[in-house]
Amino acid sequence: MKNIALLGSTGSIGTQTLDVVRATPEKFNIEVLAAGSSIDNIRRQITEFNPSTVIMSDVSAAKVLDEEFTAVTVLSGQEALKESVVTCDIVINAIVGFAGLPVTIAALTEGKTLALANKESLIAGGPVVQRARRMMESSIIPVDSEHSALHQCLHGYQSDYDHPSQSIKRLIVTASGGPFRGFTAEKLDKVTLEEALKHPTWNMGPKVTIDSSTLMNKGLEIIEAHELFGIEYGQIDVVVHPQSIVHSMVEFVDSSIIAQLSMPDMRLPITYALNYPERSEADWGSIKWDEITKLEFEQPDFDNFLCLKLAYQAGEEGETAPAWLNAANEVAVSAFLNGQIKWVDIPHLIAQVLDSYDSRKAEEEHDIYEADQRARHIAKQLITGKVNG
Ligand SMILES: NC(=O)c1ccc[n+]([C@@H]2O[C@H](COP(=O)([O-])OP(=O)(O)OC[C@H]3O[C@@H](n4cnc5c(N)ncnc54)[C@H](OP(=O)(O)O)[C@@H]3O)[C@@H](O)[C@H]2O)c1
Repeated sequence: MKNIALLGSTGSIGTQTLDVVRATPEKFNIEVLAAGSSIDNIRRQITEFNPSTVIMSDVSAAKVLDEEFTAVTVLSGQEALKESVVTCDIVINAIVGFAGLPVTIAALTEGKTLALANKESLIAGGPVVQRARRMMESSIIPVDSEHSALHQCLHGYQSDYDHPSQSIKRLIVTASGGPFRGFTAEKLDKVTLEEALKHPTWNMGPKVTIDSSTLMNKGLEIIEAHELFGIEYGQIDVVVHPQSIVHSMVEFVDSSIIAQLSMPDMRLPITYALNYPERSEADWGSIKWDEITKLEFEQPDFDNFLCLKLAYQAGEEGETAPAWLNAANEVAVSAFLNGQIKWVDIPHLIAQVLDSYDSRKAEEEHDIYEADQRARHIAKQLITGKVNG
């Protein structure tokens, strides 16, 4: 039985992870649950899964739960999140946004297996996260469906060959294209929040859904792929595939391509990450061949979806540039969700923030926090100027 710390348990990935645990209770014990402030959801999860520790980022929610569940240790704060990983075998980082960084670093530093959904920590913290990963030779098993697909394509191949990276021509990361695929600049100028929140193939939390609509999600995933698999940006391509059946592909030097396919269901990559290196019997995402009439592929529109271009640029720049990109994006998405800016303002705001990038190195953890703070500050100033002016 593996002990699990599920951080971000009340969200889309968190609740789907609990579906997987519910389906195979003999394999997993939920030791730690963590969330922000969703007290009703976590109350139900505590009752069902009986964790020993619960962490809420919202202090008042933690206080209420502490009084209610006397047999459970209820804590709050970043230190508690970091310490929570120590007693577990697998840490699932399903927190949304930059707030997931301390968990990623703590899990790797403690030598735990990290099932990573929180891509933002890997993107913003790149060089620092890599150091923590190398230090203890910790494993990151990606939960993101595209990276799970790449991991699966690469893993079977790598096991019996000494120099796998020399055989890879390119990684091909698929993108659904989001709700605005094929839209012209004029149409994009008028899109609403409601439309942006309607993803055609995946049901996800609001932040990643908006990221999918701008293609920033794909941009972040390009950086994630570079960080996870050590492949240069020039060898990572995006192909739009609206059906979201082919989750990503690896092309080898002999032009042979290996792909991973399933219906869009995050419980499949979650099952893979929790059981790796074994495979567990499960039906999540099992392909219904009678429902698939076609698989289409097309090139992404880099001109109208500027976020993708910005992500490649920040990734190539390296050091703290991806932290700036991530912070600017988080502020812009939050402002869009709050009705402060338009959808089309998101990429322009990020580009403006990146114009002020100061090229500082990412040597220590605090360099990442400082970069994040500086970029957020500039982004917020730009939004205030926009709202007031
Ligand atoms: N959803 C998907 O299908 C999908 C697919 C691939 C990758 N991902 C990635 O997975 C991550 C989670 O996405 P999601 O869609 O599951 O997001 P979500 O539905 O918005 O859930 C976010 C979770 O994080 C918790 N949280 C927020 N701030 C926190 C903090 N400071 N400390 C502890 N917990 C905190 C939330 O708690 P409250 O409920 O209390 O706010 C919630 O449990 C993101 O990085 C996303 O890019 C998601």
